[in-house]
Amino acid sequence: MCGIVGYVGSQNAVPVLTAGLRRLEYRGYDSAGVAVLDHGVLRVLRCQGKLRNLEKLVAAESLCGTPGIGHTRWATHGRPSDTNAHPHVWQGVAVVHNGIIENHLALKAELIRAGHIFSSETDSEIFAHLIADELHRTDDLAAAVREALRCVQGTYALAVLREGDESRIVVAKNASPLVLGRAEGESFAASDIPALLEHTRDVIFLEDGDVAVLQRDGISITGADGSPVERPTRRVDWTPIMAEKGGHKHFMHKEIFEQPRAVADTIRSRASMEEGDLYLEGLDSEVLRNVSRVVIVACGTSYHAGLYGKCFIESFARLPVEVDLASEFRYRDPVVDSSVLAVAISQSGETLDTLAALREAKKRGCSTAAVCNVVGAAIPREAGATLYTHAGPEIGVASTKCFTTQVTAMAMLAVKLGRVRGTLSAEEARRHLAELSSAPKLMEKVLRQEQACADLARRYRHLSGCLFLGRGPQHPIALEGALKLKEISYVHAEGYAAGEMKHGPIALIDPELPVVVIAPRGPGYEKMLGNIEEVRARGGQVIAICSESDSRVPGLADHVLRVPDAPPLVSPLLTVLPLQLFAYHVADMRGTDVDQPRNLAKSVTVE
Ligand code: AGP
Repeated sequence: MCGIVGYVGSQNAVPVLTAGLRRLEYRGYDSAGVAVLDHGVLRVLRCQGKLRNLEKLVAAESLCGTPGIGHTRWATHGRPSDTNAHPHVWQGVAVVHNGIIENHLALKAELIRAGHIFSSETDSEIFAHLIADELHRTDDLAAAVREALRCVQGTYALAVLREGDESRIVVAKNASPLVLGRAEGESFAASDIPALLEHTRDVIFLEDGDVAVLQRDGISITGADGSPVERPTRRVDWTPIMAEKGGHKHFMHKEIFEQPRAVADTIRSRASMEEGDLYLEGLDSEVLRNVSRVVIVACGTSYHAGLYGKCFIESFARLPVEVDLASEFRYRDPVVDSSVLAVAISQSGETLDTLAALREAKKRGCSTAAVCNVVGAAIPREAGATLYTHAGPEIGVASTKCFTTQVTAMAMLAVKLGRVRGTLSAEEARRHLAELSSAPKLMEKVLRQEQACADLARRYRHLSGCLFLGRGPQHPIALEGALKLKEISYVHAEGYAAGEMKHGPIALIDPELPVVVIAPRGPGYEKMLGNIEEVRARGGQVIAICSESDSRVPGLADHVLRVPDAPPLVSPLLTVLPLQLFAYHVADMRGTDVDQPRNLAKSVTVE
């Protein structure tokens, strides 16, 4: 993880870099740094802690200059500290890096024998030394970078600045994200699009192995062998304001409230209501018709969206579905072949485990598809087809709107598979798509009950543990509710399939333990009433999420949050909302860093 930025142009690079880093802070925030050329002289400032520490330092030192590079770090090799913060410098070469260099220890030992002195514990510093060495043989910075890259094994997005050369920065990429931007007289590089939006919406995604030279008047790209390559410029439809907090206290709060719009956009982009059909370009109907099995690979919240997808693909398309944690799938010897459709779900499209699982599935002959929120990210680039979610940039580390748009995408995929395979009639497909289209309005209604969620959060803000129970398509919602609470409020929480409660977690129940029971009307409802009784009989406190029309659950539970009555396909899009709001308010009241919770990063591009 980590975020990198680069700028070449006539402005002072420092504010451009720090503003870009602010947008990338979700990628890591244990230290930050910038390097600029001040009349050709290299000046570097870096420090431990969040970006605000660097901003203070930059102001105190009146740092100024152009071009420049910057970095916000999430430690992998070497603890968070000033000396491990990037940029790393050797003999006038400054480098920022996102990724992991696997052979850095061997390279470092060799360089030390040759007289190099290292000042950090990072793997990244190796780049400054290797490139500086190459510059003894050539004066061409891009050629030196390419040569240096031949020595390293691992993943990288890097930006390089050389003392005395104000005309350019050089960037390179392998398996870590890097996007370039162009504006009149200026060129930009960043780990993610939001860092570029203030300057341009025309972006270029580099491919693995690419090395690019950024200058004021243009960008030239070569492949690893040095021959020129063309990469298309794409226009992104995100606006800078979409990446701002828009008056909300936290990005997470803003993103929770963006969900009705995000889900509506995701449906709109794909569904033809009149025809009851979906456009999934790249996914050949013939392939979909003939698959024997679907394997879904994902991590974290995206994995929960996969579990939801399983319920409805099995039900609508009568196809067996496995949902695998990407980090498990990639290291097993999975039984998949060309009759399998592998679906990788990833908000960022850059999660290394999910990317590796996708590659493994491809290697074994599977047809592949991705569900992703970031246009042109690594996973959609490698998947056979992509169903993009239209959540817009998600900045809060805890995923909210990307989850509900992933759920929407999986519902649409289930309908599509059902239609293509003839297990769902046109009429049924139309009905399900109409149900899905009703979701945004219903979601708005749920979000209007924020106060009830905040009141409940106030009542339980000192909780030390929490159990979440759900069945069928509400089981992934129980897992997601528990994950949200864990990651932002640091409260231990467990999500369980409600039928499993009697096989273990029931032992946890005592008068101190709140149990969130997700019990909307629909399949499994009666069984959930049984679960509530079991919790009550053991003195547990029940917080129930139930349907508006329900009169039984309110008579049993200690607290009730209501959601509109909805069919099973849509209900999880509603029941998850009070859980997100509950987790958000508990975290806010406990004073944690809601958007950047400790130890976490937004996209996990390392193992
Ligand atoms: C969600 O709140 C998490 N921060 C995390 O579990 C996330 O969903 C996971 O890392 C997968 O990310 P991806 O969707 O970008 O692949």
